[in-house]
Amino acid sequence: MRDAGAFSHYPHPMANHILVTGSAGRIGHAVVQALAAQQLPVIGYDLMPTPGLRPEQCRIGTLEDVTLLQAAANGARCIVHLAATPDDSRFPRGAEPDDGDNFLTELVPNNIVGSYQVMEAARKGGVSRVILASTGQVIDGHLRNGRIPVRSSTSPEPRYLYACTKVFLEALGQVYSRQHAMTVLAVRLGWCPRPGQEEEFRQSEMGPDVYLSPGDAGRFFLAVVQAKSLPSYSIVYATSKPVRREIYDMAETTRITGYVPQDMWSDGDP
Ligand SMILES: NC(=O)c1ccc[n+]([C@@H]2O[C@H](COP(=O)([O-])OP(=O)(O)OC[C@H]3O[C@@H](n4cnc5c(N)ncnc54)[C@H](O)[C@@H]3O)[C@@H](O)[C@H]2O)c1
Repeated sequence: MRDAGAFSHYPHPMANHILVTGSAGRIGHAVVQALAAQQLPVIGYDLMPTPGLRPEQCRIGTLEDVTLLQAAANGARCIVHLAATPDDSRFPRGAEPDDGDNFLTELVPNNIVGSYQVMEAARKGGVSRVILASTGQVIDGHLRNGRIPVRSSTSPEPRYLYACTKVFLEALGQVYSRQHAMTVLAVRLGWCPRPGQEEEFRQSEMGPDVYLSPGDAGRFFLAVVQAKSLPSYSIVYATSKPVRREIYDMAETTRITGYVPQDMWSDGDP
């Protein structure tokens, strides 16, 4: 049942809504735009207000604020969990003492503890569908050794410690789907460059083939939210159309979710 007291700060509590964590970020913003364009009821959850959402649709706090998170999750039809520290800050490490490692300071609290809190909020709030943002970095070892295209069944060979937290996320989703009868989809996202990553993207040999445009990111998550049924647990990839060759096998994505990419990277992007 809805915890009305926990919603009391907000003038317009919603029911049957879609909760998007990390809604103010690069991908989150694209997702809330796509959902709102279909008049779907969206609640954004982030450290800051989400552009494009009205104040009453924004929950501002960390994933560790379990009271706020639980109130936001209660009654949701679906949670799209994007909030995370989205990469290693520096790896392999630099020199001591400031070696740039962000595992204990950011990756553990935001990606590991935070994801656990989201799954717990979903379980306690009776949320039946959760979509988890994983990354192609979990299968990086296959790419480096030319074992492409990678498939949904490809086992993890994580890049660095950020990717390890996403392996944990995928496993966490699988446990909750099995133990708590939730539908969980983990998506190994392609590369939707954040501000400041443009040059790194251009230098990357695989970048154009794993590019994920904001428009396609929005369309992908909309497709998953709207899918009539999903397997109890699945892993899929999501990218735009590759420029030269297929790195991620998207057949399973289209079969399960109906998502078909529309965009392709070009010189004007990102
Ligand atoms: N952009 C990409 O290319 C890419 C690729 C693969 C996977 N991902 C994953 O997709 C998700 C979104 O990535 P993005 O590129 O939009 O990142 P981003 O940094 O632009 O957005 C992340 C958002 O999460 C919020 N956030 C972080 N920690 C939080 C916490 N503890 N509590 C509340 N909010 C918190 C941040 O404020 C930010 O707005 C992440 O999980 C990331 O790991 C992104």
